[in-house]
Amino acid sequence: MKILMVLYPGGAAAKENPELLGAAENALGLRGFLEGKGQELVVLTDKERELDQHLPTTDILVTTPFWPAYVTAERIARAPKLKLVLTAGVGSDHIDLAAAASRGITVAEVTGSNVVSVAEHTVMQILTLVRNYLPAYRQVIEGRWDIAEAAAHSHDLEGKVVGIVGAGRIGQRVALRLRPFDVHVLYYDYRRLTTVEEEVLGIRYALLDDLIPRCDVITIHSPLTPETDGLFDRGRLFRMKKGACLVNTARGRIVQTEPLVEAMTSGHLAGYAGDVWYPQPAPPDHPWRKMPNHAMTVHVSGTSLEAQRRYADGIRDCLDRFLAGRPLERDYLIVEGGKVTSPSYSYAFGR
Ligand code: NAI
Repeated sequence: MKILMVLYPGGAAAKENPELLGAAENALGLRGFLEGKGQELVVLTDKERELDQHLPTTDILVTTPFWPAYVTAERIARAPKLKLVLTAGVGSDHIDLAAAASRGITVAEVTGSNVVSVAEHTVMQILTLVRNYLPAYRQVIEGRWDIAEAAAHSHDLEGKVVGIVGAGRIGQRVALRLRPFDVHVLYYDYRRLTTVEEEVLGIRYALLDDLIPRCDVITIHSPLTPETDGLFDRGRLFRMKKGACLVNTARGRIVQTEPLVEAMTSGHLAGYAGDVWYPQPAPPDHPWRKMPNHAMTVHVSGTSLEAQRRYADGIRDCLDRFLAGRPLERDYLIVEGGKVTSPSYSYAFGR
C-alpha cells in the first residue's frame, strides 16, 4: 500500500534531534517499520500541489493538526484508493468528516496523546496573561525597570472565576491543574458531567451564555465542529467581562478573527492567548500576530517531545492493525463504517 504522510518541516532542529518525531524528516520514526513491511512510504511537507499529485495513488494518508493538510471533499474525490486517514495528534477538523463518511473512509486520531501537554500549556498561558508576564519580561530585555507599568496590569489568579468551555479530556485536566490556585471554576459542555465528576474536579456547570459574563478568564477546549465554528463571535466576545482574558488552545476558528481584534484593540479584553490559528501556518500578516496584549504561540502545545512519542506510537499501532486487517483502537475512531462515531464529533455531524 502507499502511505502518504504530510508533516511539518523539521529543518536543522530535526537533524539535531531525532526525537522530533513529528517532523517530516523523522516520519514519526516509522520509516523502518513500514519499509520492513514492504509498504511504500512518501513523506511531504507541501500540503497543496505535491499532496494533490500523490492523492490519486494514496491508500493511507497521515496528517497532523500542527501543519494541517486540509482534506476537503474535493481532495477526497480525487483520492479513489483512499481507505484510511489518520491524525497524528488530536483534532480531525482539517478533514471533511462527512465526505470521508460518505466514501466509507475510516478516520482516526490518537485520542489522549497530547492532552496533558495542552493542559500544561493552557495553565501557563492563563498565568502569562493574568500576571502580565510578557510586558514585564520585555522590560528586562529592553534594559528598562518600570515596576508601575508592569504592576498596573498584574493580578493574582487566586479568587478569580475561570470558565472552561468543553470539559473533555483537556478541559478536565486544566480544571485539575487549576485546583491549587484556589479559583472558582465554571464549565460549559453540551454533555453535563456527573455530580461526582463535578465534585472531584471542583467545577460547577453553567450554560454558555450564563458563563461568559461571569468569568475573569475563559479557556476553550471543545473540538471545532459546525456548532463551535465562530462560537466566540462579536456578541459573545463583548459580553465577556471588561478586562477579562480568553485562552484558546482548541482551534482558531472557534474565535472569530476580526471581532477578536476589535475586542483587543478597544481594550474590552485584557488578554488573549492560545496556539491555534486559521489557516495554519498563519500568514505573516494574520491580524492576531499584531494585536495588543496577546501571548499567542505557534501551534506547539500538543507537540512537546513527549507528545510526539505518544502520537507516533499511536499512529504505528493504527498502521500495524490496519495492515494486518485488525480493528483500530475503538477510542481512536472518528469516522467508521460510513458514520461519524466519535461522541465529540457525532454531536455535530450525526443529527
Ligand atoms: P475531548 O473529546 O476529550 O473533549 C471535547 C469536549 O468538548 C467533550 O467533552 C465534548 O462533549 C465537548 N464538546 C463538543 N462539542 C461541544 C459544543 N458544541 N459545545 C460545548 N462542548 C462541546 O477532546 P480533547 O482531547 O479534550 O480535545 C479537545 C480539542 O482540543 C480537540 O478537538 C482539538 O481541537 C484541541 N486540541 C488542541 C491541541 C493543540 O495542540 N493545541 C492538541 C490536542 C487537542
